[in-house]
Amino acid sequence: MFTLKEEFPQYYNYQGRRISKKLSNTNINLLNNHYYKYTLDKKIIDYHKVKDEKKKINFNKSNFSQINLEIGFGDGEYLLRSAYSKPKELFIGVDVYINGIVKVLKKILEHGIENIMLSNVNCLFFLDSLASKSIDNLVIINPDPWTKKKHHKRRLISFQNIQLFNHVIKYKHSIKITTDSPSYVEAIQEIFNEKKEFLDELKFEILNKSDDLYGISRYQRKAIEKGQNIYLLTI
Ligand SMILES: C[S@@+](CC[C@H](N)C(=O)[O-])C[C@H]1O[C@@H](n2cnc3c(N)ncnc32)[C@H](O)[C@@H]1O
Repeated sequence: MFTLKEEFPQYYNYQGRRISKKLSNTNINLLNNHYYKYTLDKKIIDYHKVKDEKKKINFNKSNFSQINLEIGFGDGEYLLRSAYSKPKELFIGVDVYINGIVKVLKKILEHGIENIMLSNVNCLFFLDSLASKSIDNLVIINPDPWTKKKHHKRRLISFQNIQLFNHVIKYKHSIKITTDSPSYVEAIQEIFNEKKEFLDELKFEILNKSDDLYGISRYQRKAIEKGQNIYLLTI
């Protein structure tokens, strides 16, 4: 785990926080001893070293009925819940946040979960290494809002990145993004207005308590407690 990160730091780079508290020796050992069984990091880096189309990751040979991808899974609450409830489907979680990787890895080992794969690289490298049309459902639960105007350029949902998302999904309208940030919603709507000729329709709704994606993460619940709406954008 750490050898890859040290050897190829460029794939793990990210402008926000990647570690919230220092990893204990126990957690470092956990990563060193078990992460390799559940990670796609090596495959991603192997692809980028040669950029050979044949080395792109696809799940053609997998026995899973659906391939789901969650970008920025944070503490992994939604990723784990989804994996428990749909054991025949594969759930891939990508997050640069190493403490989140540790949390999910612990649960995987504790409960013998067999349908989660993880990656700690910046998701843009991951998306780039995937074969086209390899993902059934892509979900992003409350991406970092980067509320200050000077930080808007750091936002994950940009025209360029939407094109990367579109490239890896099998079907239209299988990308779901939730956010509590009205300014982020407006910025995404603006992208769709400006780039109409390249993008399909954007669906927008405000989630209700009874909706599946409502209140499904710590980050989201914090926003709900403050009385904020949770918006769902479907691409
Ligand atoms: C605001 S948090 C939300 C976490 C979780 N989805 C939730 O709702 O609690 C955004 C997460 O996205 C991750 N993230 C942001 N940009 C990323 C990137 N380029 N690649 C991978 N993960 C990223 C961050 O590390 C963080 O865990």
